[in-house]
Amino acid sequence: MKLVISLMLLAFSQARVIETDCDVVTIHNINHEKQVLLKNINGPYQMTIDYDTNTLFFSYTAEGETNDIFKSGYINLKTNEYNTITGIAGGFASAVDKHSQKVYLGGRDGVYEFNAATHKANHIEKDGKNIWHMFYSDKLYYTDYPNENVYTFKDGVSALLPELQDTKALLIATDGKDNLYFKNSSGLFCYKKAKGETVFLGDYNLNSLTADINNNLYFSTPQGFYNIDENQVVNKLADVSDVYGLVVESDNNLIYSSSNSIIRLTPTKKICITAKNV
Ligand SMILES: *[C@@H]1O[C@H](CO)[C@@H](O)[C@H](O)[C@H]1NC(C)=O
Repeated sequence: MKLVISLMLLAFSQARVIETDCDVVTIHNINHEKQVLLKNINGPYQMTIDYDTNTLFFSYTAEGETNDIFKSGYINLKTNEYNTITGIAGGFASAVDKHSQKVYLGGRDGVYEFNAATHKANHIEKDGKNIWHMFYSDKLYYTDYPNENVYTFKDGVSALLPELQDTKALLIATDGKDNLYFKNSSGLFCYKKAKGETVFLGDYNLNSLTADINNNLYFSTPQGFYNIDENQVVNKLADVSDVYGLVVESDNNLIYSSSNSIIRLTPTKKICITAKNV
C-alpha cells in the first residue's frame, strides 16, 4: 500500500511538472509572465525608456560589422515596432531628459542627440569620449571606457564630475536628492554630497543601473533584479538568469534584456509548479 501511494505521488508530481509548462518570474509574491518584445537580437544591453513617447532605446552587438561593434536601436512599446539608429559611431549608451524631451545617445566619440523625425543621431559633442553609460537627472551624467571617469554634459560642454574625480565608475545614477550612486569592479557605492562621504552598498556585479519614472533606482546583475530604497538599502526583487540589463516602465512593469531578446514582465494569475517546489 505504501509503495502504491508513493508511486501515485511520484506520478502525480511528475504529471504536474510536465503539465505546468510555464515560465514565470515571482516579484513581491506575484507571478509575472514573460512577454518577448524583441527576439533574435545580439546582446541587447544598455536600455532607457523615453516615457513621453513610450520608446525603449537599447544598444546591441552588430555581428559581421567591421566599423561599429555596438549599435543603437529602439522599440515603440505600444506597437513593438523596431528600428535601428543611423548616424552614430558605436552607439552604446542612452539617456532621456524628461523635461526637454531630448534623447541623448553615447557613441565611441562623444554625445549624440536623437532626432525623432529623421530617426538619426546628430553628433552634438565632437571628438568626445568613448561613452559607456549615461544617466539623466538635473543634467546628463556619463562614464567613459576604459578610463571609468564620470563626466557631466551641459550646454554642449563635458566636464569631469569633481565629486567622483578620484574614483573609478562604470555605471552612474543619482536619486535627485544629492546622492550619487556608482558601480565599479569593487561593487556598488553611494556618494552622499551633503556629508562628502562614500558608502559601500555591496559587492554586486551590476550590469545596469536605472531609475523608474519617479526616480526610484533599480539595477540588475547577470542573475537578478534589485532596487535601492531612499535609505540606500538594497532589496532583491527576483532571481533571473541570463540578464543583460533592466528598465522600468511607467506602470512599473520591468523590462529586461537577455543574451538575445528583450522581455517585458507582466503580472499574471497563473500558478506554476516547477520542479523546485514540488
Ligand atoms: C570603486 O570605488 C570605491 C569608492 O570610491 C573605491 O574605494 C574603489 O577603490 C574603487 N574600485 C576600483 C577598482 O577602482
